[in-house]
Amino acid sequence: MKTVMGMGRNRTGIGTSPIDAKKTIEAAEEAVPLGYGDRVEGAAVRADYVREAEPLGSVPPPTSLKGAAKSAAEMLTGKNPAVFIDKLGERLAFERTGTRLYDALLTKMEAAPGPEGISIEEVRRIHDEERAHMDLVWNAIEKLGADPTVQTPSADIDGVAATGLLQILTDPRTSITQSLHAIHIAELADNDGWVMLIELAEQMGHSDLAASFSAALRDEQQHLALVRRWMTMSTESLASLGAGA
Ligand SMILES: [Fe+2]
Ligand SMILES: [Fe+2]
Repeated sequence: MKTVMGMGRNRTGIGTSPIDAKKTIEAAEEAVPLGYGDRVEGAAVRADYVREAEPLGSVPPPTSLKGAAKSAAEMLTGKNPAVFIDKLGERLAFERTGTRLYDALLTKMEAAPGPEGISIEEVRRIHDEERAHMDLVWNAIEKLGADPTVQTPSADIDGVAATGLLQILTDPRTSITQSLHAIHIAELADNDGWVMLIELAEQMGHSDLAASFSAALRDEQQHLALVRRWMTMSTESLASLGAGA
């Protein structure tokens, strides 16, 4: 893996060929868009679909008797347990993705030396913590009598959102510095996700769960601080001529 970022034969900008650039601009100005109408028409079609669309998914009713009883009790107090289960499903999906992101980072680090100062032991520890968070949420869902194998609507959204992050990490060409950018996005969302889940757990009257989630949040705060430090360090080292990625 080549690790030095230098100037190369990137021809994506129009500045590479001023003659072709002029022709490209002229053609773009003269061209009439092919296909379906203009932006206003396009938006109207999308609006029609929005009005007719089914919801993205649903949260199934509890499959256990214990879960059904808990749900009924919560609904009697005016709380909607489906929202909490949906958000727990989201957290579970995200922690699973987090584990996979760090898995991919470890593969990269084992395959090629990264920038100095990023400890593989610390990356392994974060990976294991993400995995432990996944188990924590799994157990919380089971404790509520719900099914942790369900893909809830918010878990679905998370899965789609994380696709790009996983693509960055599993692309063999991306450097560790570039991979850290994707991990940084994940850790930012991870931190806020736990903050919101803790507030929701309190609101739903599950203080015991809120307390165990607070321990996970403390881990996440450390992850974010480390990733920020590694990103800064590796980018600064890249900016010094002759340094690796
Ligand atoms: Fe996490
Ligand atoms: Fe994390």
